[in-house]
Formats: sequence, structure tokens, C-alpha cells
Amino acid sequence: MSKSNLATILTLAATGSAAVDYSQYVNVFMGTKDGGNRFPGVVAAPFAMTKLGPDVQNGKTDAYSGYLPDGRIWGFSMMHESGTGGAPKYGVASQMPVIGYVSDPLADLSQLRSSEDQGGVGWYRSNLANNITVQLAATEHAGLYSYDFPRGTNTSSSIVVDVSHVLPSFRGLGWEQHYSGGTFKLLDDGHYEGSGTYNNGWNLSPDWTIYFCGRFSQEAASSRIFSENIATNYSSTWFADTVRLGGVFSFNETEVTSRVGISFVSTTKACQNLDDEIDENASIQSLTEAAKARWNKDIFDKIQISSNNTENLQLLYSSLYGMFLIPSNRTGENPGWSSSEPYYDDVFTLWDTHRCHISLFQIVQPTAYEEFIRSLIDIQRHDGFMPDARSSNFNGRVQGGSNADNVLADAYVKGVRGSVNWEDGFSAMRTNAEVTPPNTLIDPKAPDSSTKEGRGALPDWLQYGYITPRFTRAVSRAVEYSTNDFGLYQVAAGLGKTEDAATYFNRSRNWRNHWNPNATSEGHSGFVVPRQVNGSFVPQGPKDCGGCYWGDAYYEDNAWIYSMNAIHDVAELKERIGGDERFIDRLDKLFDLKIFNAGNEPGFTSPYLYNFVHGQQWRSVARARAISALYNSGESGLPGNSDAGAMESLLVWQMIGLWPMTGQTTFLILAPWFDRMMITLGNDKTLVISTTGGNRDSAPYVQSLKVNGEPWDKSWVTWADIFANGGTLDFVLGTDKVEWSTGDLPPSPASVEMPTL
Ligand SMILES: *[C@@H]1O[C@H](CO)[C@@H](O)[C@H](O)[C@H]1NC(C)=O
Ligand SMILES: *[C@@H]1O[C@H](CO)[C@@H](O)[C@H](O)[C@H]1NC(C)=O
Ligand SMILES: *[C@@H]1O[C@H](CO)[C@@H](O)[C@H](O)[C@H]1NC(C)=O
Ligand SMILES: *[C@@H]1O[C@H](CO)[C@@H](O)[C@H](O)[C@H]1NC(C)=O
Ligand SMILES: *[C@@H]1O[C@H](CO)[C@@H](O)[C@H](O)[C@H]1NC(C)=O
Ligand SMILES: *[C@@H]1O[C@H](CO)[C@@H](O)[C@H](O)[C@H]1NC(C)=O
Ligand SMILES: *[C@@H]1O[C@H](CO)[C@@H](O)[C@H](O)[C@H]1NC(C)=O
Ligand SMILES: *[C@@H]1O[C@H](CO)[C@@H](O)[C@H](O)[C@H]1NC(C)=O
Ligand SMILES: *[C@@H]1O[C@H](CO)[C@@H](O)[C@H](O)[C@H]1NC(C)=O
Ligand SMILES: *[C@@H]1O[C@H](CO)[C@@H](O)[C@H](O)[C@H]1NC(C)=O
Repeated sequence: MSKSNLATILTLAATGSAAVDYSQYVNVFMGTKDGGNRFPGVVAAPFAMTKLGPDVQNGKTDAYSGYLPDGRIWGFSMMHESGTGGAPKYGVASQMPVIGYVSDPLADLSQLRSSEDQGGVGWYRSNLANNITVQLAATEHAGLYSYDFPRGTNTSSSIVVDVSHVLPSFRGLGWEQHYSGGTFKLLDDGHYEGSGTYNNGWNLSPDWTIYFCGRFSQEAASSRIFSENIATNYSSTWFADTVRLGGVFSFNETEVTSRVGISFVSTTKACQNLDDEIDENASIQSLTEAAKARWNKDIFDKIQISSNNTENLQLLYSSLYGMFLIPSNRTGENPGWSSSEPYYDDVFTLWDTHRCHISLFQIVQPTAYEEFIRSLIDIQRHDGFMPDARSSNFNGRVQGGSNADNVLADAYVKGVRGSVNWEDGFSAMRTNAEVTPPNTLIDPKAPDSSTKEGRGALPDWLQYGYITPRFTRAVSRAVEYSTNDFGLYQVAAGLGKTEDAATYFNRSRNWRNHWNPNATSEGHSGFVVPRQVNGSFVPQGPKDCGGCYWGDAYYEDNAWIYSMNAIHDVAELKERIGGDERFIDRLDKLFDLKIFNAGNEPGFTSPYLYNFVHGQQWRSVARARAISALYNSGESGLPGNSDAGAMESLLVWQMIGLWPMTGQTTFLILAPWFDRMMITLGNDKTLVISTTGGNRDSAPYVQSLKVNGEPWDKSWVTWADIFANGGTLDFVLGTDKVEWSTGDLPPSPASVEMPTL
């Protein structure tokens, strides 16, 4: 892009009008195949509660988002997650179109597709093998189904509403959802209302209830309620316990639309949500236009690039889209307690998102981010603990530490204040750090302590300063507890809580207690390993993590990776590893020995730790480029599970050319992809990143850099340098591996004496 084009964009941004419809570059199917688990259906606004899409079964694969590219569609339902794993949640409030009279609504009504599904921001379309076409659009709390039945058939067009429809799990882990009851009512004006209650699923939640309200465009020629597999009850109301339940509606016409509202509060609220958001004249097209406008304004306009390369544009905007499908803004839809605080649910795995998703969330969506932080704190006020993950209004699961602590710390040090009550925020963090969560939901895969919330292995952490093998995931938890305690230190220091700050600063170094200097692997000694009560280390090969699962000493990765993860204490780590050269060699071995997995979050920061050695920043750039080469904007375009957008956020940071050090104000410098990128930070501030002389793939190395116009020799910048008030980064890129980063190394706050407060 020429300077004048950039000037145009700047002018347009200043006047608030969208220059381009960036939603056109979103491939909603990015990352929906081969384990990406992204949801391709309709999410009409960032964080929308309604996520309307198809539910597909192929009899063997869990459909975490409802969607699978192959298999049979057995309903189109209103609620889904995106980019999750373990076992599905949701897939509720469904409709399924059927040709002709439906004698048995509980028979298999599923259909193959006659062609691949299509979709874009705000719309979705499935062509079923029986020639019914289904188009979907939505708003935040309601959805629109538009059915086109084949013409010329002398038969009715039927729609089955199955309250007992919920996404199944085939994995046999005991984490499958159950339908546990419902209500269904036909009203005189032809609409239906009711509720479905479900439980279990990935976070083993107790019963939760969704209310729905459905209206049709026409009067049905016939409608009836069914329960169990006997379709004979024509009375207007039927309450059932665990028998399957729903309604069948048949129409004379071949074009039928249905509008459905949902609510966690009541059927009245579900109808109100519907009538507030989708009126009788709404069309797929009108709702799609509104959804595109919303995504452009709230998200896509915030990051503009000079590139005309379609793949790059698709990568950027499809990645941003994937980042904000969840959590769900359920403000006003919290059945658990009444509060003036915002409420966000579908908080998926802060243990994945804390590394680089949340810091970009703050930059792109500061308003929602502040609401999200307030919601985490309010959940602790009312439920006892902040979530590490949460869905259907219930915390769970926890994989390692209590990583909401890292999230709050990151927000605090970057100046998130507004309406956040930070005294309560710190108190919520302190609860994680001091109160062992009750182990009431015994998890057969990790019966030793709670996998619902908090820090299950806290008793050892408090008693020994490390975690003994009586707790599962002892080593990976210990490393994460260290970073969590560093988060407490950051907030305590900011709030002037001197004693707390000293306590948690100390505890943030406890990862060192798992360091066995004699553990060796591939020419390196010193790794974090399991440790007994008597202080002796458990013999364990650093490349061996057992099964890397719930019951093992390390979750999802081994000692090579977890040894690098106390990112607040890197200088100490470097010294233990044996200094600069050994440190570089160890980082290199992560890749040379294929220990590093770009699709797995525990290793996310390791590739960029070369920035902690003078002059070696170019090595981080080389790693960054190798990682981004694993992505594309297609359906198999994510190198691992999206993990609620964590994987996509990594790619956007690569494009920006920075890497956030969670819980600190530090950003490691990489190398941006584009000639120009402009990020709108809110309050009319912008960060403009330019490069000259470079090429993303063949000439990626930093030759020189100016920050806010000043020559720069440090491998890092801070929040204050470029984000707090905006700024500029001007890179000269090229093919030479220039050792330009000779200035001060990035901070290692826990490796030095605690500053006097
Ligand atoms: C992008 O395309 C526009 C219009 O074709 C052109 O004016 C501009 O120079 C192109 N920018 C780049 C960076 O190629
Ligand atoms: C669907 O429509 C096509 C084209 O009109 C037709 O050939 C096919 O038989 C139809 N399939 C069914 C199941 O009705
Ligand atoms: C439609 O089907 C009904 C019942 O099968 C039959 O009585 C009627 O004649 C058919 N109408 C037409 C137009 O084919
Ligand atoms: C549907 O068609 C039947 C047969 O033509 C007719 O009796 C009935 O009134 C129609 N129902 C509606 C709601 O249009
Ligand atoms: C239909 O449901 C009503 C309401 O529960 C019940 O009283 C009635 O016996 C049912 N009728 C049949 C035929 O099952
Ligand atoms: C829908 O359109 C019709 C015809 O233009 C109009 O009479 C009606 O008021 C509209 N309904 C709403 C809710 O706007
Ligand atoms: C979240 O939802 C509430 C209630 O609908 C709304 O007032 C608020 O603006 C939403 N937040 C964002 C960031 O859209
Ligand atoms: C920190 O740890 C050191 C060494 O373990 C200990 O001497 C000191 O009392 C601790 N300080 C606080 C504030 O806990
Ligand atoms: C490491 O090995 C050396 C030599 O065998 C031994 O003296 C030392 O105590 C060991 N250190 C630990 C922490 O086990
Ligand atoms: C420490 O405890 C472990 C496990 O109980 C035991 O196997 C080991 O022999 C003990 N080591 C020492 C030095 O007492």
C-alpha cells in the first residue's frame, strides 16, 4: 500500500467509517477439520450467546463444535462452543426439517449433504441429500432458520423440534452430556415455548436449563407434541421427566422460516429476546448484513494491513474471527445470581488462552475485555473460585494452575482499571493461592484433587514449596503455580500490599524446587522433575512424561518444555542451564529433536526466548517463520486445536511481530509480516507498524528498528512504549542475520531482588 492509501485508511479510521468490508476475507471453515474444532456456523457478533449451526454425527468422532465435514446432519441447534476438546458441550434447542408426515419423530431423521456446507460471517447454508436447503442467520440471543423444501412433491414440509437433542460423545470417558428433562408447550398463535435441562459433559456440570421460544412464518397445517416414541398426545402442554420430548410442525408451503429465541432465565425472556432482535420481516440477508457490520466495526476494522495478498488477508481476518467466537457474553442471562456486573460464560481454558490470546483480546476489544475481567471476579464472589474454564454456568476443568491469576495480572499491569474492583480482584486471586478447592466432584482420571477450579495441589505447595507425586500433574502444576504466584505479586505490588507482594514474589520462585541439576537428556542437565516428600527427586527421563495426561506428572508436554515455562525467571533459568550458549543450544534442541509442537500451548513461548541472549533475536524470527508456515486459511489450516482461539491469536502476534510475556508489560520483538499494519487501540490511539526491505518468507530478519522514531537496540518493548498511548515501530528487514539486539535484555523480574515497594 502506498503512503496515500495508508493516509486514506488513517482518515477513514479517524472518521469512524469502514473503508473495506473485511468480513469478506473470513473463511468461517478455517480450522474446522483435522482437529481444529472451530465452529463454522453463525455467530452474529463477537461473543454472541447464540451460535447457530449444524450438528453432525459420523458415529466415531466427537463433534466438539457440532460440525464435522463428513457424516450426517441430525439437527441445527442454537448453542455451540468453538475450538474445544475433551468432550462436546451444548448442541441444544434444535430443529430438523423432514419431508412429509413424520410418524416417528424419534426415528433417525438424519440426512447426508448433497454438497459441502457454505457459510460466511453471519450466514450458513446446508444442502441436504433429500433436497431440503437450510439457511441460517442469527442475532446475539436468537436465530433465524430458512427452509426450502423441494417443490412439486405432494406432501407436507415438516419441522421436528427435539428438546432431548444434545451433542453426544463417543469417547467413552464418562464426559458425555445427558438430557435430563424438559417442557414443551404449543400456544394458540402457533408458536412454541419450552425448556431443556442437561448435565455432565466435559466439565461434569450438574443440571442446567435453556429456555426457548420458536415462531414460524406461516400457520402450521398441523402441530403436535411428542414424548418418548409415541406421537399421540395432542394436548397443549406436556411435561416430561427423562422421556424424550419435542414437537412436530407440518406446513403446506415449501418455504418456511422459523425464528427462535433462547434464554437462561425463562421462556418469557426467550420470547422477549426473540422479539427484540428478530422481527417478522427479518431475512437471512438483513441479518447477515447486520452481522458483517458488527464484526467489521467491533473487530476487523481494528487491524488494517497494506497487503493485497488474498491468503494473508484471509489468514488475518479468519484468525481474528476465530478468536472471538467464545467466550459468550451472557450479561443479563445469568441464572445463578443477580448482579450489576457483566457475565461471560463459555470461558474456555484460560490455561491455553493466557499465553497470547488474552493480551490481544485486550488490545482489540478493550471494552469487552474489561467486562470479561469483571465477570471472572464476579464469578469468584458468587461461586467461590474464578474459573480456569467454564460452561453452562459451572466452573471446570482445571488442567494445571489457576491461570485466571495470570489473566488478571496481565490486565492489571497493562492498566485495565475502569469499573474493575481490583481489591476484589486480588482477593479472588488470593483465594486461588490460599484456599484448597474442595474435591467434591471426584474425577476418575485425577481423583487426588479438584479438577473443577482453584489449585488442587495447594496443600503441598504451601507445605513444601513443591508438589509431591501424591498429586497428579505435580510438575506441570508446580511450574504454573509459580507463574500464578508471580501474578499475585504483580497485583499486590500495584495495590501497595507490601507483605503479600513479598510472599508471592518468593513463591513465584518455587518452580526452582523441582529443578534436578542431575537430570540429564541429550547433552543437557537440569530439568524440572517430580520430587518426593523427603526432598529426593524421582528418576524420570526428561523426554518422558508418562502419558502426558490427567494422571501423569506432566500434562500435555514433558520436562524439556516445562523447564522453560517460568517466564518471569528466565535469567535464573539461563544460568541453571549453563549460560548463553547452552541456553541457545537447548532451545535449538526443542526443535531439532522435534520436542516442540506448534499445536500445543505449553510450548508457545519457548521459540522466542532467544531474545534473552544478546544479538540472537534473529533466531526467534527464524522460529516464528517456521511456525507460521504451518498455518493456512483453509479448513485444515490450524496446526492444532484452536483452543478457543489461542492458536489463531498466536498467528496474529506473528503478523504484528511481537510476542507478549503474560503477566508482564514486556513484548518480545519478532518481525512483522506486512509493509504496514495499523492497530486501532481505542481512545483514537493507534500503533502503526511498518517494514521496508523485507519479505515475509525470504527476507524476514531485522536489520534495524526504530521505536517511536528512535533507534532501538533492545529485543523487547513495553506496553508503555507503544500500546498505552499508541506509537510506531519501523523495521528494516532483510536476509542478513544481523545481531542488532545488543541493548538491555528483557526483564527477568523474579531473577533479581524484589524491588522495594
Ligand atoms: C493493492 O491494490 C491497489 C488497487 O489495485 C493498489 O493501488 C495498491 O498499490 C496495491 N497495494 C499493494 C501493497 O500491492
Ligand atoms: C434432488 O434433486 C435432484 C435434482 O432435481 C434429483 O435428481 C434428485 O432425485 C433429488 N433427490 C431426492 C432425494 O429427491
Ligand atoms: C396428494 O396426495 C393425496 C393423498 O396421497 C391425494 O389424495 C391427492 O390426490 C394428491 N394430490 C395431487 C395433486 O396429486
Ligand atoms: C393445508 O392444506 C390442506 C389441504 O389442502 C388444507 O385443508 C389446509 O387448510 C391447509 N392448511 C393451512 C394452514 O394452510
Ligand atoms: C396427554 O397429556 C396430558 C397432559 O399430561 C395427559 O393428561 C393425557 O392423558 C395425555 N393423553 C394421552 C392420550 O396420552
Ligand atoms: C413487516 O412488514 C409489514 C409489511 O411491510 C408491515 O406491515 C409490518 O409492520 C412489518 N413488521 C414489523 C415488525 O416491522
Ligand atoms: C454484553 O452484553 C450486554 C447485555 O446484552 C451489553 O450491554 C454489553 O454491551 C455487551 N458487551 C459487549 C462488549 O458487547
Ligand atoms: C522468602 O524466602 C526466603 C528463603 O526461602 C525466606 O528466608 C524469606 O523469609 C521469605 N520471605 C517471605 C516474605 O516469605
Ligand atoms: C548430583 O550429583 C552429584 C554427583 O553425584 C551429587 O554430589 C549431588 O548431590 C547431586 N545433586 C542432587 C541435587 O541430587
Ligand atoms: C525418599 O522417599 C522415596 C519415596 O518414599 C523413597 O523411595 C526414597 O528412598 C527416599 N529417599 C531417601 C534419601 O530417603
